[in-house]
Amino acid sequence: MWDFISSESIASLDKRVSSPAFKRLKNNVDTAHGVLMGLAVVLFLPLGALVMRLPGSKNMLWVHAACQIFGLIVLILGFAMGVWTSIIHTEIYTDRHSILGTVIVGLFLIQPALGMIHHRNYASKGRRTIWSDLHVYFGRILLILSIVNGGIGIQYAANSPNGEIGYGVTAGVIFLVYVGVAGLWYMRRPGKEEEQSGDDEVTQVEAQQDKSE
Ligand code: HEM
Ligand code: HEM
Repeated sequence: MWDFISSESIASLDKRVSSPAFKRLKNNVDTAHGVLMGLAVVLFLPLGALVMRLPGSKNMLWVHAACQIFGLIVLILGFAMGVWTSIIHTEIYTDRHSILGTVIVGLFLIQPALGMIHHRNYASKGRRTIWSDLHVYFGRILLILSIVNGGIGIQYAANSPNGEIGYGVTAGVIFLVYVGVAGLWYMRRPGKEEEQSGDDEVTQVEAQQDKSE
């Protein structure tokens, strides 16, 4: 059945895979995977989430959604490179970085749907629902897990002490800024949850308009 895979074709593949040009390509893809994933989980996605906690965030819903979709696209590109590089390493899904990373990327794909469901519910009911907390807490957990997984990836690659420091410092700074901004937002928001849209995404007036549509 597998006759078409002759020993000559395997030998020729081995030769191509071990050629200097191929090794260079693999190194570049490794680096591109690390850089794209790092940018997505340490910069784009957390900053896109923070947008919802800035003053005036009621006008920022679509900025948030657009930033997060952009971050997701970068994440998917990085994921494809990670899978390719894993296959070339012939170690796909045998290490915790790849397994955890695959689960995380899969779960990130659910976030836009949770965000939309939250938004639709908020617009029609004029208050937050279980979907709001699901989207917010699930998103935060995924962000933390993905940053940790990036750290595991850097250890796994074991080729960039400077990358380790850069990644760690950026992640630490973004984490502190995030906690600070979100903390301030929680302290400053007026009254109880029923009176305040946890997200400020639409005003009560807009909610009423939506209801009457
Ligand atoms: C949240 C998801 C992920 C993040 C944030 C992430 C991030 C990273 C980072 C920052 C590196 C270090 C790159 C370097 O220093 O050269 C790395 C290495 C690596 N990642 Fe990922 N990754 C993720 C998911 C995946 C997935 C799903 C796979 C494969 C299925 C994968 C495969 C690899 C491999 C094989 C390396 C080692 C590359 C080398 O030897 O240089 N990663 N990852
Ligand atoms: C990959 C995609 C997405 C991710 C990772 C994500 C992540 C997050 C996170 C982490 C928060 C909470 C910020 C905080 O820590 O307080 C948040 C809030 C929010 N997101 Fe998203 N989001 C995504 C897509 C969307 C989309 C497509 C929409 C709607 C169209 C949306 C609507 C919202 C709203 C309205 C809030 C504020 C909720 C509240 O305050 O209760 N998100 N998002």
